[in-house]
Amino acid sequence: MSDPLVEAAKEAQSNAYVPYSGFRVGAALQAEDGRIFVGANVENASYGLTNCAERVALGCAVAAGARRFARLVVATDASPPSAPCGACRQVLAELAADLVVEAVGPDGSRRWRLTELLPDRFGPEDLAR
Ligand code: THU
Repeated sequence: MSDPLVEAAKEAQSNAYVPYSGFRVGAALQAEDGRIFVGANVENASYGLTNCAERVALGCAVAAGARRFARLVVATDASPPSAPCGACRQVLAELAADLVVEAVGPDGSRRWRLTELLPDRFGPEDLAR
């Protein structure tokens, strides 16, 4: 049976702008209210300005008013499927500390909680201490 979040991540992956790395990433983030927000990596001739798919998806979600999230799917062509980079883990943890993260690729999928991928995150609570 097809999973709408996986399908959304794969469709976004096909829209990735990757003239430099050729590594396409699509992300689909589901809000607790059911809405799905997608992102793809957008590279730049000034390489360091590249935006990762996960952060594009989170930015779209926040701009649409979503603040609570249930699940993230990241689609790549890597085998085994690749997990979100460290910067994306930190940015996701700001608003979705216990997010379920699933990586999908040509040969299957892997699943974690964001707390496993980024234990002892630095978060908003730390600023209040
Ligand atoms: N990339 C992502 O979009 N998400 C990640 O979590 C890892 C890396 C992108 C950035 C760059 O466009 C390409 O993958 C290779 O690093």
